[in-house]
Amino acid sequence: ESLNRELETLLATASKSEAEITRKDFDGFKKLFHRFLQVKGPSVDWAKINRPPEDSIQPYEKIKAKGLPGNITSCLNKLVVVKLNGGLGTSMGCKGPKSLISVRNENTFLDLTVQQIEHLNNTFNADVPLVLMNSFNTDEDTKKILQKYTHHRVTIHTFNQSRYPRINKESLLPVAKSMATSGENAEAWYPPGHGDIYASFDNSGLLDKLIAEGREYIFVSNIDNLGATVDLFILQHLMSQPADKRCEFIMEVTDKTRADVKGGTLIQYEDRLRLLEIAQVPKAHVDEFKSVTKFKIFNTNNLWISLAAIKRLQEKNNMDMEIIVNPKTLDGGLNVIQLETAVGAAIKSFNNAMGVNVPRSRFLPVKTSSDLLLVMSNLYSLDAGSLTMSKKREFQTTPHVKLGSSFTKVQEFLARFENIPDMLELDHLTVSGDVTFGKNVSLKGTVIIIANHGDRIDIPAGAMLENKIVSGNLRI
Ligand code: UTP
Repeated sequence: ESLNRELETLLATASKSEAEITRKDFDGFKKLFHRFLQVKGPSVDWAKINRPPEDSIQPYEKIKAKGLPGNITSCLNKLVVVKLNGGLGTSMGCKGPKSLISVRNENTFLDLTVQQIEHLNNTFNADVPLVLMNSFNTDEDTKKILQKYTHHRVTIHTFNQSRYPRINKESLLPVAKSMATSGENAEAWYPPGHGDIYASFDNSGLLDKLIAEGREYIFVSNIDNLGATVDLFILQHLMSQPADKRCEFIMEVTDKTRADVKGGTLIQYEDRLRLLEIAQVPKAHVDEFKSVTKFKIFNTNNLWISLAAIKRLQEKNNMDMEIIVNPKTLDGGLNVIQLETAVGAAIKSFNNAMGVNVPRSRFLPVKTSSDLLLVMSNLYSLDAGSLTMSKKREFQTTPHVKLGSSFTKVQEFLARFENIPDMLELDHLTVSGDVTFGKNVSLKGTVIIIANHGDRIDIPAGAMLENKIVSGNLRI
């Protein structure tokens, strides 16, 4: 009751142009909040969790063996590429949308995406559109940049995800004083996770428009996953299913290593495939969840979803996603919660959903400057917007790179390298403290460089470090 009243008061502060969208957002929020109040106890009963049946997660090789589509152009014309673009670059010390950070030869995530799709359209004389799901945090800056792609062979659409109010943890009421997103309201609103895609895509009218154009599937991925390119074999698999067994949802998963133990995994639950996230796991079973032997794969968030199925589930109000309760402390110290959902969690609502176990190369996320170092280096080569691992690397595994806090911000990171070292033969790199790299440094095997507090280590131009530890005041 009091929540409703507060929401109405907030709505009254919305401008005319905002009012209609805000009402839709608030309707969505109220539904989510209502579900949140009703949920009691854990969302899964551990005893009911089963391993997914053999054929529900197919190896990529098996999908590939079925070959390419007979008519690639017509299959591509039924596809839409969607990039999740609601996130900011804050964790890498950047202002504005994460997709506008330069990652390789001055190209941003967005540039690379546009190049990939343009290349596809040129090669196959196709018309695959790109859709960006923006948030109120990223929309304005993204739209400004989009002008530069006007003459590229790719149609770009955008739609905005919802804007929900953060809730005071104690009172369970919004902390917002008005619809403004600045000043005292700067921290009052949030984009409610990528699970919001279904409702906001539908609300925007774009879903209907694309269906009317004859599009059948979307390929959704995180914009910061540079490995998420359109895969023609998976597309063919979807397009060649008999009508009565149409696969409405494919989740690309990949083998877990010890570094990805926190990623969501697929389970069989009440006869359906489900995404299980670490947040849903009872404390007593967390170690079991993290084990790479029991739960072998994790979700890459590369998803192929039927547009008609999204429409059906939205209309019937049958899109079911677990609520993620995300507690936050605002700058002023106030404890709030934000309710979110994840796009992959809806897998259980779709018919004939399956996983495809893809090679690791389809999961190349850039979350930290350590990831950035790898994708900027000669370990990868860039071709038409796609990064592939250099053939010159003997083992096709990525080195383990751990850069310390002086490298966290992209600007500081860049200032510390005259150019990116040769990393073709690197296995492990740890750098900590005030360290800089001169031109044409070469790193091989295991290299550890530690500058103690107050010291600085400058790796000289042309240095070759192979299985070396450099620390303290030691100079090479
Ligand atoms: P994150 O970077 O926040 O998540 O968003 P993550 O740590 O990879 O974990 P997952 O993917 O949730 O498992 C992933 C992508 O989703 C977008 C971000 O812009 C990024 O591309 N995103 C996230 C949205 O578009 N909206 C949101 O509300 C949240």
